[in-house]
Amino acid sequence: QPQRPLLGRRVLITAGPTHEPIDPVRYIANRSSGKQGYAIAAAAAAAGAEVVLISGPVDLRAPDGVTLTRVESAREMLDAVQAALPTDIAIFAAAVADWRVESEGGQKIKKGAGGPPPLQLTENPDILATISKRGENRPNLVIGFAAETENLLDNARAKLARKGCDWIVANDVSPATGVMGGDRNTVHLLMNATDAVDVESWPLMTKDEVASALVARIAQTMEVHAP
Ligand code: C5P
Repeated sequence: QPQRPLLGRRVLITAGPTHEPIDPVRYIANRSSGKQGYAIAAAAAAAGAEVVLISGPVDLRAPDGVTLTRVESAREMLDAVQAALPTDIAIFAAAVADWRVESEGGQKIKKGAGGPPPLQLTENPDILATISKRGENRPNLVIGFAAETENLLDNARAKLARKGCDWIVANDVSPATGVMGGDRNTVHLLMNATDAVDVESWPLMTKDEVASALVARIAQTMEVHAP
């Protein structure tokens, strides 16, 4: 099946930002566009995989042949990811908010004489680490992303170890690169091997090209283990 190398494989992908509610009308968010994750979903579907895309709020349409679940918050994303298991491959491209407001108000917070409300933040679950460290139903290949603005490879190596995933796709998101919200990306693929980490540095590509190359790399690795 050279044209559809992921036929028979089930692939889970997270994409986009998360929105963390402050009250019924306000939220904390980030600038993730979801483009890279959606491009990977499209490429995996084109390669024949059964694709489950779990997406935070973005302005993109579901790629053809992909099952899309929309979520808002990190906790909803984690629930949706767990409900989608088991899968052969899991790719965590979402820019999950690190924090949420501890006690989301049931009513809109009013302006008042008391001044601005204090917002107590609490840590969100780390979806990538949670899935990487699962005993039961851990996907065979778990891939995370590392968006860094400095010491890209060192930070990505540390992340690979800390999260317990198999591969990290590292990209430089310094403002000058235009990666955030843009259509192009320069990535390094870090792959956990037995006693070392293999690093492949790819040239500047469009996010669609990065997606196709990543899917091709995954297919090459999976070939060894027939479905
Ligand atoms: O720790 P950091 O956010 O830099 O790690 C990035 C990687 O971890 C990405 O793959 C992202 O999707 C994933 N992540 C996650 N849940 C979080 C934070 C990050 O799945 N709460």
